[in-house]
Amino acid sequence: MDKRITVLAGDGIGPEIIREAVKVLDRVAAVYGHSFDYTYVDIGGCSIDKYGVPITDEGMQTCLQADSVLLGAVGGPKWDNCPPQIRPEKALLAVRKTLGLFANLRPTKLFPQLAEASPLKASVIGGGIDLLIVRELTGGVYFGKRFTGEEDGEVAAHDDMTYRESEIRRIGRVAFETARLRRGKLASVDKANVLDTSRLWRRIMHELSEEYPDVAYSDILVDNTAMQLIRNPAQFDVIVTENMFGDILSDEASMLTGSIGMMPSASLSDGTLGMYEPIHGSAPDIAGMNIANPLGTILSAAMMLRYSFAMAKEADSIEQAVNTVLDEGYRTGDIWAEGTKKVLCSEMGSLVAGKIG
Ligand code: IPM
Ligand code: MG
Repeated sequence: MDKRITVLAGDGIGPEIIREAVKVLDRVAAVYGHSFDYTYVDIGGCSIDKYGVPITDEGMQTCLQADSVLLGAVGGPKWDNCPPQIRPEKALLAVRKTLGLFANLRPTKLFPQLAEASPLKASVIGGGIDLLIVRELTGGVYFGKRFTGEEDGEVAAHDDMTYRESEIRRIGRVAFETARLRRGKLASVDKANVLDTSRLWRRIMHELSEEYPDVAYSDILVDNTAMQLIRNPAQFDVIVTENMFGDILSDEASMLTGSIGMMPSASLSDGTLGMYEPIHGSAPDIAGMNIANPLGTILSAAMMLRYSFAMAKEADSIEQAVNTVLDEGYRTGDIWAEGTKKVLCSEMGSLVAGKIG
């Protein structure tokens, strides 16, 4: 199959990790007889430097016209003082919104080979960590009205948080359907003891749960979830939650697996167009040093093959290759431990590519 991929390498370690994911994709294409055509578009700080905006209109069009989008990371201290309208993150949010990427899947899996890297004791990890966070990605406080100005003689700020029934229902459906394909358990995370948006969220999820009697459904408050993720992560299968709770919980969950550098994500729309990116940031402190962990990006490329291109066996082959390389003891610095072999970012990419086919 011929597929067009728009590549948004971004800032910091973005270009380094993307290079390794492309290396792996090229190998997949060669082995399985596909052709992937890449169009590179600047996003984030690098785009601000060149064009004065974090993504150009043409860049956005290129994303819309692609079969899928692969993203590295955006942002860095250099652009921290940009006005809010042109901050690097703004581009990321704009792409999510423009492409209609409302469903963000963040699998959190502890590779058994990395159990040592997890901050949790083996006794707490128990049966292993294999959960999936389904984060609503185009609503909530991220996209609400903002205001900073004077009120009652002092400066005040507002960030409006809104959810509509239809927005909750469509992410709910993705979560129930996904739970069905996994271990059949779904926890919906909210703050229904305080927020109206959460009360609506909970009501819609309950309605949906009637349609999915085969899925074991429960509600859980977000603060309790933060605690339960540390206390007993094995209890979770699929977690569905609104935009900001999902942002925070997915960072927390990722750490349980030893390194945020391992975690991929998929942002899906109603159709097959999706955006795939590691959940970590641009790590400016190690940018350009060739020591970043490219596995989160490589695993994101695997999700792209699975969800946007329906190439399940190709996706499996990448995931298996990562597993084999870890089995053989290769580690980037973030997951390195005594007795394992430390490799550079580019070496890790080549090792994984070498195991395909
Ligand atoms: C993420 C990131 C983004 C978010 C930032 C960079 C805007 O933290 O993808 O989790 O908050 O969604
Ligand atoms: Mg985040």
